[in-house]
Amino acid sequence: MTREQAAAEIATLDAQLRQANEEYHNLDAPTISDADYDAMKRRLAWLEAAFPDLASSDSATGQVGATPGSGFGKITHARRMMSLENAFAEDEVTDFVTRIRGFLNLPADAPLDFTAEPKIDGLSLSLRYEDGQLVQAATRGDGAVGENVTANARTIADIPQTLMGDAPRIVEIRGEVYMSHDDFAALNAGDSGRTFANPRNAAAGSLRQLDPAITAARPLKFFAYSWGELGAPLADTQMGAVRRMAAMGFKTNPLTRLCRDAAQMVATWREIEQQRATLGYDIDGVVYKVDDLAYQDRLGFRSTTPRWALAHKFPAETAWTRLNGIDIQVGRTGALSPVARLEPVTVGGVVVSNATLHNEDYIAGRDSTGAPIREGRDIRVGDWVKVYRAGDVIPKIADTDLSRRAADSQPYVFPEICPECGSAAVREPGDSVRRCTGGLICPAQAIEKLKHFVSRAAFDIEGLGAKQIEMFFADDLLPIREPAQIFTLAQRDAANLGKLKNRDGFGDRSTRKLFEAIEEKRRIPLARLIFALGIRHVGEVAATTLARHFGTWQAMIAALDAAAPAAERHLRAEEAVARERAEAAEQGRRARLKESRDLVWSADPPVPAQARAAWDDLVSIDGIGEVLAGSLVTAFAQPNERGGINRLMAQLDPLPAEVASSDQTEITGKTLVFTGTLEKMTRAEAKARAEAMGAKVAGSVSAKTDLLIAGPGAGSKAKKAEDLGITVIDEDEWLRIAGR
Ligand code: IVH
Repeated sequence: MTREQAAAEIATLDAQLRQANEEYHNLDAPTISDADYDAMKRRLAWLEAAFPDLASSDSATGQVGATPGSGFGKITHARRMMSLENAFAEDEVTDFVTRIRGFLNLPADAPLDFTAEPKIDGLSLSLRYEDGQLVQAATRGDGAVGENVTANARTIADIPQTLMGDAPRIVEIRGEVYMSHDDFAALNAGDSGRTFANPRNAAAGSLRQLDPAITAARPLKFFAYSWGELGAPLADTQMGAVRRMAAMGFKTNPLTRLCRDAAQMVATWREIEQQRATLGYDIDGVVYKVDDLAYQDRLGFRSTTPRWALAHKFPAETAWTRLNGIDIQVGRTGALSPVARLEPVTVGGVVVSNATLHNEDYIAGRDSTGAPIREGRDIRVGDWVKVYRAGDVIPKIADTDLSRRAADSQPYVFPEICPECGSAAVREPGDSVRRCTGGLICPAQAIEKLKHFVSRAAFDIEGLGAKQIEMFFADDLLPIREPAQIFTLAQRDAANLGKLKNRDGFGDRSTRKLFEAIEEKRRIPLARLIFALGIRHVGEVAATTLARHFGTWQAMIAALDAAAPAAERHLRAEEAVARERAEAAEQGRRARLKESRDLVWSADPPVPAQARAAWDDLVSIDGIGEVLAGSLVTAFAQPNERGGINRLMAQLDPLPAEVASSDQTEITGKTLVFTGTLEKMTRAEAKARAEAMGAKVAGSVSAKTDLLIAGPGAGSKAKKAEDLGITVIDEDEWLRIAGR
């Protein structure tokens, strides 16, 4: 697979995962199955591991949930709420155990126990107790900030208001809110006014009610399995902590077991799977956790998942049905996504009538590398197809039955023109996605961009959501067809005869409120503004990084404009590299990638030194890779897009970004290099620790290095560091910095 193919696939997966996060966490209305979601996330993680320079720091692999919705107060978690790494195959469990032994540098005969417990398919909740009293309950939200659902949590019988026994003065207990199968069936049969797709959605919908009386009437349950901030440790082991939580008055899962090794873990997984159908509530796998809490502490966390835990998922459920048609949806970046329309079928208790078909290769029976999937069987309208889902609503198509295919069936022809605007839809070499080239003349893209612009993490304008965007987009008297027009709405309305306030759904009051809400957002935080522009690859985290780096809009624009000639050269160089790679593969020779790249960079006319410096500066920002930088600079250099941005900026007065100040350590922001042998910590642990403290770990010494940690046997790197006047410390000094 080429770098370009990987970049394209990463972008697609990233967008799909983000959308799925929003649907699942904020809308309680997922459109893809858990299994599908997991598969996409794993694929993305794999691609990012294979092409580390393409991984953006705000990749969807690093996101837990979605940013919290409005309506509830927000609570910043004292300790982030984490997600779990997933595994599907048994050998991944063995790998997990091996990896942990390696990280901790444990001899083969040293005991290493794990707990195994069901993974409850509900939603996580963090409960804060002070002096034994429940004071706060928060949903996970995006992991850092959740929603305040305290009043609702108080109505759940399994959640104690007062802790029993001798609890620490401050305790945050975390666990899963869920609904039993019986209660779910009764709720759907009753007159709650809504039919929920599955117990998880019912639990989420019930907990996230603005009126606690509604939550109280819904039969929610709670299992405790984890914790956040603690005044004092609960125990020395995970199992001990579970017992302690039970002693405080929480329900803990009775199937929790202690396992000595991978074989016992897998055996427990099988046992729990056998009980799955009769448990009376949904579980979607088994969670393994390192039992020794001192080990958990040393293992620590990756960006969103603990190294000491693994979710071993159960296989998905399947059913056969007929494929009635394929619809094409056009997204914000112009991607054409095929959606399967199915003869409704029940899969694992849920009626399914739509499924994703990913992209045209998937329909044709190939993956993005050209390798056959489903042994090369294509999918045709009229086929009998195997639908695949795990926990949630709209799944994917896993296979097609050739023996039942009609003799006159025809292969599906993927449209080469955009069904929304008629522009050409093209596939860049290496991209698995076909994209509409219409840009903003494509109504689907323009609408999706606008919806993104007003979305919660972007401008978040009260009274101007997706529904209103659709309405204004189609409005001839008072149109909103680009972001700038949002901010001229009031002025245009004043000059109009058909006033907004006289329309259905808009009164005097709501019109005034809408205009006020828009007015308020003229002073938008810089990071939100950058995110709102909807530039490919620029997600929330990258937007925040850019805002913090540049501080002001003017500084950012100046830097992007300065880098434009170099960015253009970069894109051309990458094209040349892709060509060289293809040619070399064809001719069976080694690809001369560096030469191809250098040739383009040094071609006439030369790239001005200033542009080159601006580009280097941009890509050296931690978390801004070349793909992202290329996409960003190109978007601003593109005349149509720049025109729209300029019109928008004439309306806005963005707030400069605040520079991060909390959680500073003595190595925050510094670049570290480790060399020689570390004796008391593995390299992996040292690197993880440094990164957790906000430092960057590099492989070689350069002028940018701030600190060299040299163990015994350090050679040329230590010498070079000394020559450059870089501070060199030994392992003991490092252990002091690392807090060990
Ligand atoms: S432990 C730091 N244990 O699964 C580790 N999570 O896919 C925190 N979940 O966010 C999680 N059952 O909402 C843990 N027995 C269990 C669980 C469990 C369900 C959920 C939890 C988590 C999600 C990750």
